[in-house]
Amino acid sequence: MKIGTPKETFAGERRVAMTPDSATALQKLGHDCVIETGAGTEAGFADADYAAAGVEVVKTAAALWKAADVVAKVRVPDDAEMKRLRDGQTLISFFSPVADEAKMEAAAKKGATVIAMEMIPRISRAQKMDALSSMANIAGYRAVIEAGNNFGRFFTGQITAAGKVPPAKVLVVGAGVAGLAAIGTSTSLGAITYAFDVRPEVAEQVESMGAEFVYLDFEEEQTDGAATGGYASVSSPEFREAQLAKFRELAPEVDIVITTALIPNREAPELWTEDMVAAMKPGSVVVDLAAEKGGNCKLTVMDEKIVTENGVTIIGYTDFPSRMATQASSLYATNIRHLMTDLTPEKDGAINHDMEDDVIRGATITHEKAVTFPPPPPKVAAIAAAPKKEAPKELTPEEKRAKETAEFKAQTRNQVTLLGIGGALVLGIGLIPGMPASFMQHFIVFVLSVFIGFQVIWNVAHSLHTPLMAVTNAISSIIILGALIQVGSSSLLITLLGALGIFMASVNIFGGFLVTRRMLAMFQKS
Ligand code: NAI
Repeated sequence: MKIGTPKETFAGERRVAMTPDSATALQKLGHDCVIETGAGTEAGFADADYAAAGVEVVKTAAALWKAADVVAKVRVPDDAEMKRLRDGQTLISFFSPVADEAKMEAAAKKGATVIAMEMIPRISRAQKMDALSSMANIAGYRAVIEAGNNFGRFFTGQITAAGKVPPAKVLVVGAGVAGLAAIGTSTSLGAITYAFDVRPEVAEQVESMGAEFVYLDFEEEQTDGAATGGYASVSSPEFREAQLAKFRELAPEVDIVITTALIPNREAPELWTEDMVAAMKPGSVVVDLAAEKGGNCKLTVMDEKIVTENGVTIIGYTDFPSRMATQASSLYATNIRHLMTDLTPEKDGAINHDMEDDVIRGATITHEKAVTFPPPPPKVAAIAAAPKKEAPKELTPEEKRAKETAEFKAQTRNQVTLLGIGGALVLGIGLIPGMPASFMQHFIVFVLSVFIGFQVIWNVAHSLHTPLMAVTNAISSIIILGALIQVGSSSLLITLLGALGIFMASVNIFGGFLVTRRMLAMFQKS
């Protein structure tokens, strides 16, 4: 099959759906690649790069659409492109089947198969094709950079000769893909970062990224995304009120707010209200990633940057991925390439459009002259429901003391039992006729060492076992001393064993230090 990518026609769109790298991978699947001249220029890929990767470069969009069996592009096709779409052709693109229903029906009528990239189900197997996620990741990153560009201060706190700079405070509302990317960028720039989401299962991820999850003082269980394909569902009015009250409390404190809250196929919920903007300090910045869906802040103007009367900048750009066109194109082209890999199972250049496959079925909106949208729900649950954790019971001081005493007693009992067994064993061995006294001396030291070693290791947290073992490996090679003493023995066997001991212990010592060094390097900032 011939896979073709035209130059994007949407004003200001800089991304391209095929890169020289993705074209090389597509050719390995047995496909030929064709691109319209100049399609990759704004993303940093010249025609010559494509030609060098074995891609045919054609002069016009008309020639491209005519030549390609599969057209891969970024934006919803415009009217001229819809006219070029033909029977038997496959189109892979963002398509917004709800908003562009008429185009979807027209494509079905023509007999074209349309795969809408935003319809790729969010299941683990499809992550590599999930263009919504790869683009949202870029948007989250870029939102922080854009906020920083419009914020007159550092993110990180500094103490300099010229004065003390407090760290910026960033609030991220909605910790989905874009939100988590924003959190990661913000914490790595040194800002104090807070995050809120209606899905409680993300709290752990937020905290593991160094941000603080904003908990509400609210009885109702927060919604669980597992039941709704990994997405949030609408929260109750009481929950919303509690959420807004918390945000009102935070508004005067935070310097940057990045809102990413969205429930699929709905208007973005209004979460950052006018009075919150009014309560913010002059110079603060709001980046509203949900601008395209009406915005999480009603003051947001889509595709524009405005400054309010009290000096708060509100950014409503909807083209963040396109503002990082090279990166976005590489990721998007890789998503398409993975989709093509699934569509070409035999790697023979022939497409097998398997409508039994959850991912392909989910994303296909027109096929064999019929509209196949909306798809049935995927057979695989998006994410496993988080097991409900029992909240730890608050103990009274007496209960706490009783619990500690019981634990101490149980521990002592274990130790006494172990010592008893050890003592009986030593006694039993000592009673064997002819057992030399020197052996017994060594044996007792050995048993006690095992006991102490066991006690020490047993009380170390599991996560620390590897570093601990690395260090003890290095130190425990005290064996080498024994081997050195013995190596000069008159018995050849003892000399050989001594030499072997020295060799093994040296490996242990150097290996231990090497592993410790590598582990320490993992925690060092380059
Ligand atoms: P996502 O679905 O992964 O994340 C949305 C998050 O919002 C979810 O975690 C959800 O639980 C949360 N949420 C929903 N209602 C909420 C509420 N009332 N309060 C707090 N959290 C709530 O979506 P993703 O992929 O992270 O995208 C986020 C937004 O960014 C979307 O609006 C998307 O359209 C937009 N976007 C904007 C771009 C731009 O250039 N401006 C580019 C890419 C995405």
